[in-house]
Amino acid sequence: MKIVVAGTGYVGLVTGACLAHLGHSVTCVDTNKEKIELMKQGISPIYEPGLDEILKKNYEESRLDFTTDYKSVYKDADVIFIGVGTPEREDGSANLDYVYKASEQIAENVEKDCLVVVKSTVPIGTNDKVEEFLKEHLKNDVQIEVASNPEFLSQGTAVKDTLYSSRIVIGVKSDRARDTLREVYERFNQPIVVTNRRSAEMIKYASNDFLALKISFINEIANFCEIVGADVEDVANGMSYDPRIGDKFLKAGIGYGGSCFPKDTKALHWLANDNGYELKTIKATIEVNENQKYKLFRKAKQRFRSLKGMKVAILGLTFKPGTDDLRDAPSIPNVRRLLDEGAEIVAYDPVGEENFKKLFPTEITYVKTPEETLKDADAAFIFTEWNEIKSLHLNIYKELMNTPIIFDGRNCYKINDVEEKAIEYYSVGRKAILNLKEDAKSEAAMAIV
Ligand code: UDX
Repeated sequence: MKIVVAGTGYVGLVTGACLAHLGHSVTCVDTNKEKIELMKQGISPIYEPGLDEILKKNYEESRLDFTTDYKSVYKDADVIFIGVGTPEREDGSANLDYVYKASEQIAENVEKDCLVVVKSTVPIGTNDKVEEFLKEHLKNDVQIEVASNPEFLSQGTAVKDTLYSSRIVIGVKSDRARDTLREVYERFNQPIVVTNRRSAEMIKYASNDFLALKISFINEIANFCEIVGADVEDVANGMSYDPRIGDKFLKAGIGYGGSCFPKDTKALHWLANDNGYELKTIKATIEVNENQKYKLFRKAKQRFRSLKGMKVAILGLTFKPGTDDLRDAPSIPNVRRLLDEGAEIVAYDPVGEENFKKLFPTEITYVKTPEETLKDADAAFIFTEWNEIKSLHLNIYKELMNTPIIFDGRNCYKINDVEEKAIEYYSVGRKAILNLKEDAKSEAAMAIV
């Protein structure tokens, strides 16, 4: 079976590499020549643990190839995966330009019957439209069918998530398409859910939006915990013993970011509106997340009144650990607000620095260790729970900072541990540790929701 993957972003590249790793002959197509050359050397254009190794191994063993020459590879492909991006439009809807561009190139070049598999996250009904579009634009007399096969990988664990995923979802119109995809995924040895194309498309959105909803729910509970004196970590733990609730995606913090949850919540909400229906839970999920992003900033404003001239240490820039991705990272709007306030920022992130520099090339100082960030700082903000940051001993803050005041957006430290130190500490959904002189206490923020 000859497999071609269009697009070498997170979805396309990881899919292509993993299919080759399990024995298929795969060619990944991208229009960017530099990216293709890099991948031929076994270098992944994205930071993703384990990806370089499988790119290199499968390229060297001739199961995986990369090209810009889509015309020659689409010609005799059996299965073509579309794994291109579907970014967010200004109104929240999904931009399908790349999906249609790839479809046009496929339609103009296929010379034998083939199955086109849409892996990109697309609005419900798109697979039907893509099939129509392909048929309209076919240049040769061939049979072409479209199947939906959404992707559930998380950044930072994308290779593992693909090779050992919880399920493979296949949305098809015919038994032939179903059997072809069963053959493609045979060696993955994972449960396969077969349904129609629209349900498969909906499974992807509903899964992501449900996880986002879970996060916004626990963040609201966290905000309320602060008001009534409960501890959200204990609350989430107590809830998690109920198997109907589980222990995942109940980590309170400064909101979800990344390339999927923000985009997919907005896209589904938009799509529902477009169909005359209001998805109220998703609307609330989006609103809560928007508000949650600025939680630390609000706490700091209440604590200091003015941040002008303060030296602020930023620990963590990426939207989560294990990735260099900054898409919708809460650090970005917070850094903007801190700069607007006149704060002087020194930032550390183990892998996100280069990408952050593209957004803030000169406005902030970048350093290579968390310790350098903290030196003489007046306040520290934790935006990402990297191990390098979580494992930083609390004594270091005391030793290096001008005033050890921490705003922890990811609840990296245990309240009991902080209480033992003379550190001022504000986190999410837990009591504030003031450790201040009596007269200063009234000035300090207790619970700012
Ligand atoms: C997500 C989905 O998990 C994945 O299945 C889908 O295919 C793509 O979107 P990803 O965006 O890589 O993956 O990251 P994920 O680990 O899900 O985290 C998303 C965001 O939620 C991060 O900003 C993270 O910090 C936040 N989060 C996650 C929380 O705030 N609390 C949690 O309990 C879990």
